[in-house]
Amino acid sequence: MRVLSGIQPSGTLHIGNYFAMMQPMIRFQEEHQLFCFIVNYHALTTVSEGERLRQGTLDAALDFLALGLDPERAYFYVQADVPEVCELTWILNNHAPVARLELAHSYKDKLQKGFTPHNGLFSYPVLMAADILLYQANVVPVGKDQKQHLEITRDIAMRFNHAYGETFVVPEAWIDEHTAVVPGIDGQKMSKSYGNTLEIFCPEKELKKKVMSIVTDSTPLEEPKDPDKCNVFALISLFLGEDEKKDLAERYRAGGLGYGTVKKELFSRMWEYFAPYRARRAELAADLGELHRIMRMGAEKARAVAAPTLEAVRAKVGLSY
Ligand code: ADP
Ligand code: TRP
Repeated sequence: MRVLSGIQPSGTLHIGNYFAMMQPMIRFQEEHQLFCFIVNYHALTTVSEGERLRQGTLDAALDFLALGLDPERAYFYVQADVPEVCELTWILNNHAPVARLELAHSYKDKLQKGFTPHNGLFSYPVLMAADILLYQANVVPVGKDQKQHLEITRDIAMRFNHAYGETFVVPEAWIDEHTAVVPGIDGQKMSKSYGNTLEIFCPEKELKKKVMSIVTDSTPLEEPKDPDKCNVFALISLFLGEDEKKDLAERYRAGGLGYGTVKKELFSRMWEYFAPYRARRAELAADLGELHRIMRMGAEKARAVAAPTLEAVRAKVGLSY
């Protein structure tokens, strides 16, 4: 089975990214053919400083490798190192109904937040479809917010197959219900673009400060509390086993437990959890030559898979003559 997903290098990666997408991807490499990539073309829709994009791309690559992605076993690459995806995007644009793209939540959200709607933002889901279809992926692990984009991909694949005969695998989204939406420190969805993240590799002092500032209600310390309505509980649960989670829920319901105490526990759990990865990341960051070698190798491997798909598509639509 071919498993594929990408992540934007538009900001520092956080534990929402980790639990919903990065950790499942790293696990998938054990038993499946894994395609994992950093979507820098997509990031151009919101990042307009070259240096920031360049640095974000290197940081995201270091993060994945430090967290255990194996570039020998998996296909690990930077999206724009395989520019064939742009050609496929153009072809797929002709099978992407405007009415469907206008309904995309992420596009509508950006409009609502006051972004000027340029065409890159509008056709973002078509580029994403090309990312997936170019490699004939079966399964795409993502957070819940990407579900609609996956539906658009499936729609485009089916329309193309209908027009030209079986060409693309129609992919399925894979969403882990436990981590479908990780809340940020303000209680909204954790997102690079909301400034409410707990970054995977956040320095110690800063992390402590962020954890202590997680928004909670004002239930007095002695009173019973509802774990299911608490952001701190949702976040610490990501680091707890089932029994530990049950115990903590009981402590919430019993009363006498302050949010400050749970926040301190969350900080230590998270800090310890990522300790070995922090050490590995520091080693990798000390040899950027090796990082570049790894990314070049990934692009070559990915290109070898992309090229025959694109050739077949060019032939079907009549571009090769
Ligand atoms: P962000 O919203 O921080 O910019 P991306 O859109 O780059 O994150 O998402 C990268 C991956 O992480 C996607 O699969 C997305 O669904 C997932 N993801 C991002 N934020 C969260 C979250 N708060 N909870 C669960 N999954 C998330
Ligand atoms: N749109 C995805 C996100 O913001 C990133 C992405 C781009 C992606 N291309 C993809 C995810 C292909 C899965 C498959 O998270």
